[in-house]
Amino acid sequence: MNDLPHQPVLYKEIIHALQPRGGGRYVDGTLGAGGHARGILEVSAPDGRLLGLDVDPQALTLARKNLAPYEERIHLAQASYASLSTQLAQLQWEAVDGILLDLGASSMQFDTAERGFSFLQDAPLDMRFGPHVSQTAADLVNESSERELADLIYQYGEERESRKIARAIVKARPLYTTRELVAAIESVSPRRGDRLHPATRTFQALRIAVNEELTSIKEVLPQAVTALKPGGRLAVIAFHSLEDRIVKDFFREQSKDLVNPPYERIYEEERKATLKEVNRKPMVPSEDEIKNNPRARSAKLRIAEKT
Ligand SMILES: C[S@@+](CC[C@H](N)C(=O)[O-])C[C@H]1O[C@@H](n2cnc3c(N)ncnc32)[C@H](O)[C@@H]1O
Repeated sequence: MNDLPHQPVLYKEIIHALQPRGGGRYVDGTLGAGGHARGILEVSAPDGRLLGLDVDPQALTLARKNLAPYEERIHLAQASYASLSTQLAQLQWEAVDGILLDLGASSMQFDTAERGFSFLQDAPLDMRFGPHVSQTAADLVNESSERELADLIYQYGEERESRKIARAIVKARPLYTTRELVAAIESVSPRRGDRLHPATRTFQALRIAVNEELTSIKEVLPQAVTALKPGGRLAVIAFHSLEDRIVKDFFREQSKDLVNPPYERIYEEERKATLKEVNRKPMVPSEDEIKNNPRARSAKLRIAEKT
């Protein structure tokens, strides 16, 4: 596959986690360029099937090309993973053997300047993963109150200087390009040597807000549990602590039996654990992988198995 700049993040670990096999049914909810999907299809030859979803039409075009050799075993749709149940119902797939979510933006999206994801390249402030998203980062930056911006940058960017940055953004408005936004941020939070670029956290916050990423993750997790066969696995790669915390808390919660002791009523609703955590601590990329692909450095993989 020539259109992949490097091996997909935690590739071997994902294949090992999902254990694809012939006849199995798999979902890649974040298809991107189709790197992980290709591995799943290869290992599940000759008749494993894969449903691939992405909200980004450009990603789907690339994935379709990269997965052409497996055309007969794939179903691709331009749709959010948050609509997993609907997508599966359309295919009349009642249950699946494995689900992958490789969250966030792809290298392709970061590297395509005009998408506006990167603070290193000048472009319109867009940051939408796909055309289904109605507001751009420019809309958000120009139309939110200073308070709303500060809260958003603090919450989704975990940026301690959020108030200062929000004030600078409001003062510099209207902002239409990544360069203008970076300049506003740098006016109150200048670059310091090798330290994290001062715009990193604000860009992350805006991207999460524009695409309502955390809401989508919260929506998909229970659907994934319902969709899995007993013994089927869900593998999620998160790239920052906000995503990872949602996945971690969900896995912990679903791994507990909520069964009342005799004569006591602690839980309103009783429930047996629906998931078993395969790795209590998240897996992280090796030093070698990080050397080849620095963007992998913050990846964390959690795997759970349906009981
Ligand atoms: C990190 S990349 C995935 C890379 C992929 N695993 C590969 O091997 O090339 C994440 C992808 O998820 C997509 N995405 C983000 N939010 C989504 C959502 N709610 N539903 C479906 N896809 C989404 C992005 O457009 C992006 O292409």
